[in-house]
Amino acid sequence: MHLLNIKMKQTLVLGIETSCDETGVALYELGKGLKAHKLYSQIKMHAEYGGVVPELASRDHVRKLIPLIRELFNENKLSLDAISAIAYTKGPGLSGALLVGTTVANTLGYALRTPVIGIHHLEAHLLSPLLSNPEIIFPFIALLVSGGHTQIIRVDQIGNYKILGDTRDDAAGEAFDKTGKILGLPYPGGALLSQLATHGDATKYPLPKPMLNSGDLDFSFSGLKTAVAQLVRKLDVEVVLRSDVMKADIAASFQESVTDVLTAKCCAALRVDDFSSLVVAGGVGANTELRRKINQASKKVGFRVYYPPIEFCTDNGAMVALVGALRVTEGASGALPFNIRPRWPLNT
Ligand code: KG4
Ligand code: ZN
Repeated sequence: MHLLNIKMKQTLVLGIETSCDETGVALYELGKGLKAHKLYSQIKMHAEYGGVVPELASRDHVRKLIPLIRELFNENKLSLDAISAIAYTKGPGLSGALLVGTTVANTLGYALRTPVIGIHHLEAHLLSPLLSNPEIIFPFIALLVSGGHTQIIRVDQIGNYKILGDTRDDAAGEAFDKTGKILGLPYPGGALLSQLATHGDATKYPLPKPMLNSGDLDFSFSGLKTAVAQLVRKLDVEVVLRSDVMKADIAASFQESVTDVLTAKCCAALRVDDFSSLVVAGGVGANTELRRKINQASKKVGFRVYYPPIEFCTDNGAMVALVGALRVTEGASGALPFNIRPRWPLNT
């Protein structure tokens, strides 16, 4: 039986996510699933500066986190006594932002005398498909593609992670955002660039597919972004920015390169140990073209693929509450004093 289906006295876990620019809270009930969640995104505030401003992020988490927890409980007609454990993102992430969630989680846990569990943000992302697919069978290969990470991970069991491939420079989401900026899109440009690409011709301006045939599972996306910048300069920046057609064609070509490389490396990783399941998680996992290509490969090659629901691809409290619930089943219990880990390798 899967861990998430274990029957026991009601175990309700409060999850808190504050590692970057999203304040997320959620309640996950062991054996039943996600009960409720709320998310506040700071994107509009940071867009004005073209990227996340860490100090503003922490201050906004301070303003939003407690009201959001209050709303979560009020809307679900629950009192804080109903919680059996509190899970919070301990790292990696922005120090000030992490400290807000960590302090609130540990203070609440101390007051309520409930266990408090520090969760690894990337582990939360890579197990997030369990929110909609509790039947995922281990082992599997995970592609973790977010704004800060692009990794291929071998997952033998919960807590047993081996990084098989990593980016040597920019993460895929970072490359989407920087390319979006070159094309005049507001921060974060990933989802907008992908919308723009739907109207474009990916063959009009062919771009390099970095490390496609490197023979390993590593990535490199910073040269691709530079290739877009050079192309735009060659075509004339003013002309490109005025032309919706040119912008769409460049966006489509960029997306084609990234998604081809990501899909090929996933297939290669599955082949290494003859794995038959792939999990795709993180913000870029919401990309429709990436999902189309991976689904196509899964049919052709014959592997199963799992994604989190689109709304849980980017940062959220639900995935943190889920991993907290899994930790409760392993008998974890938090204890003061607490700390954060802004830099925290997944395999430690
Ligand atoms: O997982 P996430 O919320 O944050 C990190 O933990 O980094 O991912 C955010 C990243 C951003 O770079 C954003 O532009 C990208 O995911 N993203 C997308 C799409 N939706 C979000 N990139 C490509 N296509 C999308 N549809
Ligand atoms: Zn994330």
